[in-house]
Amino acid sequence: MQKQIITNHSAETYAFGRKLAEAAAPGEIYLLTGDLGTGKTVFTKGFAEGLGITEHITSPTFNIIKEYRSGRLPLYHFDLYRLSDEDELYAIGADEYWNSDGVCVIEWADMFPDIVWENAVHIEIKKELSEGPDCRIITISGGKEC
Ligand SMILES: Nc1ncnc2c1ncn2[C@@H]1O[C@H](COP(=O)(O)OP(=O)(O)OP(=O)(O)O)[C@@H](O)[C@H]1O
Ligand SMILES: [Mg+2]
Repeated sequence: MQKQIITNHSAETYAFGRKLAEAAAPGEIYLLTGDLGTGKTVFTKGFAEGLGITEHITSPTFNIIKEYRSGRLPLYHFDLYRLSDEDELYAIGADEYWNSDGVCVIEWADMFPDIVWENAVHIEIKKELSEGPDCRIITISGGKEC
């Protein structure tokens, strides 16, 4: 089962992330896919607000993972884009985050097709340029909303 929503402004993608986070439960993993600049980080910032996180969210591109603990649940924000080898993920103990009581949001989750996250929520964000520069189609599958 999957569901699609259309957003026409970054604020709507942010609000969608915030809403999903309000219902998020410990141990959940959200896999974000979509081209550069589609809104994965915008979604994550909204998601963080929905968890009640007060820290400023920045892209973890150069760190692979950033942790935020000021909310209702810990948020582990991954960005796999610049990672050349999935072994680097295991070297930093990523599977401990994936099996933790926090919530993981993973940008570029399709970088390494060999990694399979069981029971994860998939969120794909696509630009729909025929509807204008700010239009995005967001497809969510695998979540409790679906
Ligand atoms: N409907 C929309 N939803 C989300 N972002 C939008 C939308 N319309 C325009 N934008 C703009 O698109 C950009 C999305 O940037 P963002 O950093 O979130 O993308 P990203 O998918 O995380 O990119 P990257 O792959 O580089 O990490 C922002 O500049 C945002 O303002
Ligand atoms: Mg990003």
